[in-house]
Amino acid sequence: MNYPVMTAEEAARLVKNDYVVGIGGFSSVGVPKVVPAAIAKLAEEEHEMGRQYKIGLVTGGATGPQIDTDMALAHAVKFRTPFQSNKNMRSAINSGEVQYFDCHLSMIGQDVRYGFLGKIDVAIVEASEITPEGNLILSTSVGISPTLCEVAEHIIVELNAAHAGKLTGMHDIYLPEVPPYRKPFMITSPGDRIGTIDVKIDPRKVIAVVNTNLSDNQAGFKPLDDDTRAIGAHVSNFLVSELKRGGIPKEFLPLQSGVGNVANAVIGALGDNPDVPAFSMFTEVIQNSVVDLILNGRCNYVTGSSLSLTDDALQVMYQNMDVFGKRVLLRPQEITNHPECIRRLGIIALNTALEADIFGNVNSTHVSGTKMMNGIGGSADFARNAFLSIFTTPSMAKGGMISSIVPMVTHTDSSEHSVRVLVTEQGVADLRGKSPSQRARLIIENCAHPDYKQLLWDYMRLSEGKGYHTPHSLRNAFKMHIAFEETGDMRNAKFE
Ligand code: COA
Repeated sequence: MNYPVMTAEEAARLVKNDYVVGIGGFSSVGVPKVVPAAIAKLAEEEHEMGRQYKIGLVTGGATGPQIDTDMALAHAVKFRTPFQSNKNMRSAINSGEVQYFDCHLSMIGQDVRYGFLGKIDVAIVEASEITPEGNLILSTSVGISPTLCEVAEHIIVELNAAHAGKLTGMHDIYLPEVPPYRKPFMITSPGDRIGTIDVKIDPRKVIAVVNTNLSDNQAGFKPLDDDTRAIGAHVSNFLVSELKRGGIPKEFLPLQSGVGNVANAVIGALGDNPDVPAFSMFTEVIQNSVVDLILNGRCNYVTGSSLSLTDDALQVMYQNMDVFGKRVLLRPQEITNHPECIRRLGIIALNTALEADIFGNVNSTHVSGTKMMNGIGGSADFARNAFLSIFTTPSMAKGGMISSIVPMVTHTDSSEHSVRVLVTEQGVADLRGKSPSQRARLIIENCAHPDYKQLLWDYMRLSEGKGYHTPHSLRNAFKMHIAFEETGDMRNAKFE
């Protein structure tokens, strides 16, 4: 297919002020790199000449620095959705410069297809190959790239030679029909294929192809520390005890694992525990720890929306494609995170909280209820629909000045109805079948840090004898957060 080939700068000039731009890729990998960087530069030039230049950004999830760092620093973004995990974009969002729509990642693709976000002027996606028919073999992620290509008026492709020929056959591209014509997804085990290996596109939409040869440059993970090790051990021991008592079928169930350091460490710990059977994963993000687990036979199969791997881990995969080719499948996030698949397959979901309250509500997104950290991502897609939903968090943050276990969360992402088990380095609280006051006692006893236990017991005591189903004291519910804001340490909280 003879698509127009041009430089990133030439392609960027096709993206006009006020466009809504759909950027492909997911969890900072498989994202276009040079065109977004050139758009950021163009924005700077336009601003220097006193002209307006801002675009709306719709992505699958987190993107690379070329998008969120460069564009935030260039003040090129007016609207961003559905997820980011970037320091500069976070600041632009929290300062109010960028309007941010934090959205369940299973829903953003269909929001775009339903037209809820208006017209997408141009999709910019990374591909590893263009087929003779002009269709796209994506690279290290899928995200919502197929949807963006379907709905956008124009398409710009970054053709990345770094992955050429290596990923062909690893994608399963399927876009659900729009209701009332939608059919069931026939995925009854993690490896079931329902789609095609390429993204079908209308060749008339392709306005530019830009050749690149760049790695994703994915950041590494923090080394394991005592807390992450302990959390991993608690989760794996809990799952083993559930297996033994028949709470999990003896065949075991597919795992989902969230993003970040804690999630990566937990999956590593599960792999290390000889009593946990070899498992499969039906997850959103495939992180580094999975590569070793596949190589040593602890993980049989993984399907997700992105290979969120550091360069060295990706190279290990590329050198062992005889193993990985049969065990890894990349799908659109609308499928990896779909409630129907998650409920049917009986996923064990492992996600991370910033803070949890003593009743089991979880805040994964808002520091002190006000400042956006990253976004809800797929955590609640999985938590709400899983066979068993486990949230983990270290019991304290910022050197102990913050307790992650609080009387009332300052923002709720996953409610008490979706959070079935809470785990910190201190221990496990199995919340299933427990009333709010029973949950509170378990969480304080098993999960809170000893530095904060008495404070939390004191909070419980405030409403003793008042006949409350959920024993809150509204006057005191945020006293720990307020103490942190005013004194820099939650331990200074005084209840009244
Ligand atoms: N208050 C303030 N800051 C807190 C905090 C709290 N209660 N708890 C943690 N933090 C800070 C940490 O100090 C750390 O800050 P730093 O980057 O300045 O060191 C940062 O939050 C990240 O914490 P860390 O313990 O390293 O956790 P992580 O890398 O595992 O990330 C989340 C945790 C919650 C931020 C991350 O998992 C996330 O964004 N989750 C939501 C999306 C999601 O779950 N997606 C997966 C679905 S498939």
